[in-house]
Amino acid sequence: MDTNCIRIALGTILLILPCLPFLSIAEVIYPPLELFSISCGSSTNFTLDGRNWIGDNNSKLLSESQGSVAAPPNTPTTIQGPYTYARLSHSKFTYSFSLKAGPKFVRLFFYSVSYQSFDRTKACFSVTAGPYTLLRDFDASLNADADDDPGQPDILFREYCINLEDGQKQLNITFIPSKTSQNPDSYAFINGIEIVSLPPFLYYTNPDDDITGWPQPVGLNTNPFPIENNYAMETKYRLRVGDQQIPALNDTGMLRSWDVDSKYVTTQSVLSLDIATGIKLRFTKKTPNYTAPDTVYRSVRNMGSNGTFNMGFNLTWQLPIDSGFNYLLRLHFCQLDPNISRPGDQSFFIYVQDQLVEDWADIIGWSDKQKGVPVVKQYVVLIPGNEQETLNLSLKMHPNPHSLAKDAQINAIELFKINDPTGNLAGPNPDSHPKTSEFPLPNSNKKSKGSTRTLIAAGAGAVSGVVMLSLIVAFFLIKRKKNVAVDEGSNKKGGTSRGDGSSSLPTNICRKFSIAEIRAATNNFDELFVVGLGGFGNVYKGYIDDGSTRVAIKRLKADSRQGAQEFMNEIEMLSQLRYLHLVSLVGYCYESNEMILVYDFMDRGSLREHLYDTDKPSLSWKQRLQICIGVGRGLHYLHTGTKDVIIHRDVKSANILLDEKWVAKVSDFGLSRIGPTGISRTHVNTQVKGSIGYLDPEYYKRDRLTVKSDVYSFGVVLLEVLSGRQPLLHWEEKQRMSLVKWAKHCYEKGILSEIVDPELKGQIVPQCLHKFGEVALSCLLEDGTQRPSMKDIVGMLELVLQLQEGDVNGVMESGGDYEYGDDVFSSSHNSVHVSDYSKSTGLSTTRDGDRSYGSNDFVLIPDDVFSEIKDPNGR
Ligand SMILES: *[C@@H]1O[C@H](CO)[C@@H](O)[C@H](O)[C@H]1NC(C)=O
Ligand SMILES: *[C@@H]1O[C@H](CO)[C@@H](O)[C@H](O)[C@H]1NC(C)=O
Ligand SMILES: *[C@@H]1O[C@H](CO)[C@@H](O)[C@H](O)[C@H]1NC(C)=O
Ligand SMILES: *[C@@H]1O[C@H](CO)[C@@H](O)[C@H](O)[C@H]1NC(C)=O
Ligand SMILES: *[C@@H]1O[C@H](CO)[C@@H](O)[C@H](O)[C@H]1NC(C)=O
Ligand SMILES: *[C@@H]1O[C@H](CO)[C@@H](O)[C@H](O)[C@H]1NC(C)=O
Ligand SMILES: *[C@@H]1O[C@H](CO)[C@@H](O)[C@H](O)[C@H]1NC(C)=O
Ligand SMILES: *[C@@H]1O[C@H](CO)[C@@H](O)[C@H](O)[C@H]1NC(C)=O
Ligand SMILES: *[C@@H]1O[C@H](CO)[C@@H](O)[C@H](O)[C@H]1NC(C)=O
Repeated sequence: MDTNCIRIALGTILLILPCLPFLSIAEVIYPPLELFSISCGSSTNFTLDGRNWIGDNNSKLLSESQGSVAAPPNTPTTIQGPYTYARLSHSKFTYSFSLKAGPKFVRLFFYSVSYQSFDRTKACFSVTAGPYTLLRDFDASLNADADDDPGQPDILFREYCINLEDGQKQLNITFIPSKTSQNPDSYAFINGIEIVSLPPFLYYTNPDDDITGWPQPVGLNTNPFPIENNYAMETKYRLRVGDQQIPALNDTGMLRSWDVDSKYVTTQSVLSLDIATGIKLRFTKKTPNYTAPDTVYRSVRNMGSNGTFNMGFNLTWQLPIDSGFNYLLRLHFCQLDPNISRPGDQSFFIYVQDQLVEDWADIIGWSDKQKGVPVVKQYVVLIPGNEQETLNLSLKMHPNPHSLAKDAQINAIELFKINDPTGNLAGPNPDSHPKTSEFPLPNSNKKSKGSTRTLIAAGAGAVSGVVMLSLIVAFFLIKRKKNVAVDEGSNKKGGTSRGDGSSSLPTNICRKFSIAEIRAATNNFDELFVVGLGGFGNVYKGYIDDGSTRVAIKRLKADSRQGAQEFMNEIEMLSQLRYLHLVSLVGYCYESNEMILVYDFMDRGSLREHLYDTDKPSLSWKQRLQICIGVGRGLHYLHTGTKDVIIHRDVKSANILLDEKWVAKVSDFGLSRIGPTGISRTHVNTQVKGSIGYLDPEYYKRDRLTVKSDVYSFGVVLLEVLSGRQPLLHWEEKQRMSLVKWAKHCYEKGILSEIVDPELKGQIVPQCLHKFGEVALSCLLEDGTQRPSMKDIVGMLELVLQLQEGDVNGVMESGGDYEYGDDVFSSSHNSVHVSDYSKSTGLSTTRDGDRSYGSNDFVLIPDDVFSEIKDPNGR
């Protein structure tokens, strides 16, 4: 068909009906619901290549534009599109788009020349879209000069993928000039903005999809890395195999352009174009027809016809990228070769960053033994490091020697940069030199030897083999519709409350440390600074801010099985969690292959160190009760205090830390959160985690994981606190080996005092002991639904403390109902009536309170629980 005809036809229709997005009339596969093409600075509307460009002069989009100027370039361009005008300003300006929820492309068009008195080289600015930073201190002229596209000199184009959450009706795109002393006249400008809605799960992971189709992290034998709705991405490459670019208008409807890959192929290869145009492609549910234009799947690059020769090299692409980010890599395949028709006919290895990601890439096998079925494979590539660096991301393919045909082939490659934990997507300007000043290291002659050291603090005396397991900590998010107000620390996600859209990072997200700062803080990871270690790596005590602040620095081993995803998760989650009884994350460092977390330092170490196997003075009963109440509040906050339900999964005395005032803080969560945010109706593939001795039998026997698993573990902690011994003692006589069994036995026999820590003898009021045992054992009920919620437990422990203090007046008088303030986070003691352990069903039936976890709360989750598939590899 003739292109011009179509363009003219589209243009005509658009002039008549300017409100209709043009694509609804073209034969596109995916007509976007929303399409805004804005020609900034222009006062006229025009149609080009089917896009209906709207001048921003009369539009209501510019919500904040004091002092902005609309101007044509001083050197007009012959390049068409939104480049005939620009909007420029020495101060900040904002475009506000009213949009529906869902994913969008945000596209920015720049023409980097001088406008009126705005000198080309002075353009330097940041751009934010909602909570995300798209560009930071972006020097347009440097970028344009480095861009070697001779067809479009001085033209810069950026594309981002952003999801608007439900209820977010507006997307603000703000341009902020970067004022520096070198460049006080800096200004921001923009020529064109385009927003196009996307199908919901084209790039974002569909929680209902089979988990095997989720992006796989490269080089980490860990769980899939779903692209969650709260990520923003920048398109770095969208490459097809072929002899020419596929322009936006030829896309499936989203106006994506597909560039040719030849610039990035570094080895010999052969192109085959327009294969089997007679055969209709079979798109699938996994790869719907809008995934890529038909033509993409009809052109392949392979190694050549000489199989012997092919065995001697890797078909290779090198894609320059910024370090310090994670990337989503999407590889498109489609088998149309007439000589390949059965699984095994052609199979190859795929390496990403020299890591094997597929050892049997068999396109026919992947597509149900059918030909012409497009398949997309997705990987997440973690590129830690200094943001100032540009690296190559490598993709290599090599025939599998067991395959009949010794060849490999591909149709298209897409690569997206994923925002860092601060919501940033911006990389460095091309020309900017990396900072040269290496932080001077005190005593830098000393080399750290990290892992040879013996275990100092963390888990002396632990059952062997448990340490690894137990140091792997866990977090589960179950998204839930609820609306809980919390008295303190309920930091809203950085995303929703940015307010002024200034270029600085959201301050409620934690601090980013350079590796030099961390080295200085720990005397270059001096062994003397080690305060703990485990499977993940060492924990150091460190001093930051010129020694004024003490912190705990957790340095993950390079080979730590806890992947970067978990690292990112811990940062993301902990920076939102602020609560008196949770350890606070101060910041992190993700640079030079280091993954480091920085926490508040806890003077008094772990609760465990104060209970057994220790020289430290014993804690008094009252101290112990106060610690238990603090822990209970911390867990209650995790379970209900944020918009997501968080299951700690590794509650134990070693993970409870004490500050100098003996305030208990729950720690060590997040590193292996699996349940992705916003993905509620799915099974989560993970392994049973936690620490032996603390594991909920329902969880490990039946893979039922709920908040009540934490309640169980907390029950074990209560018994540890009471008895001053470990949960499991293999050398004890059989009856006493398991603390839980022994305690149950004693409680039923009415001889609970037998398990009491000798250090506490004579301290505990009998009534108080009985109640405490009752609370502990109700936590340890076999049936999770029968266990009380953390809120109830906190209330009951407060009662226990009152009983101990002899302050029982009114406590037992308040009839049969539970009564306490809504807010158990406050320290007020509330009257609680506790049901008897033996009548324990009462615990779950009498309350249906807003925050308790009766079965109602799990309606959103199939089978009431996450189903977990045990991984034979374990962790
Ligand atoms: C694309 O797929 C959808 C759903 O399978 C179908 O309804 C539609 O007709 C297809 N469009 C084209 C142009 O083939
Ligand atoms: C341009 O299009 C917008 C949106 O359709 C409309 O509101 C505006 O009046 C148009 N401007 C001109 C000059 O036609
Ligand atoms: C729109 O154009 C008019 C005339 O060209 C100009 O005076 C006015 O400042 C422009 N408005 C904006 C918001 O740029
Ligand atoms: C967008 O900007 C407008 C005007 O500055 C403001 O009223 C609105 O609240 C902002 N919306 C969001 C989601 O930030
Ligand atoms: C784009 O689409 C037009 C009309 O269908 C077609 O003639 C042209 O060859 C296409 N261009 C490419 C590069 O596919
Ligand atoms: C195939 O490649 C091998 C190894 O490079 C070479 O020895 C052989 O001559 C080639 N065969 C053909 C037919 O080109
Ligand atoms: C298929 O195999 C035959 C015989 O080996 C060869 O002549 C032909 O070129 C091959 N076709 C393609 C498309 O590779
Ligand atoms: C292909 O690349 C992989 C990963 O870097 C490497 O291990 C392998 O040796 C390479 N094969 C050849 C033939 O170069
Ligand atoms: C990336 O790969 C290209 C092509 O092999 C090479 O020229 C370039 O030097 C590489 N860049 C880096 C930073 O390694």
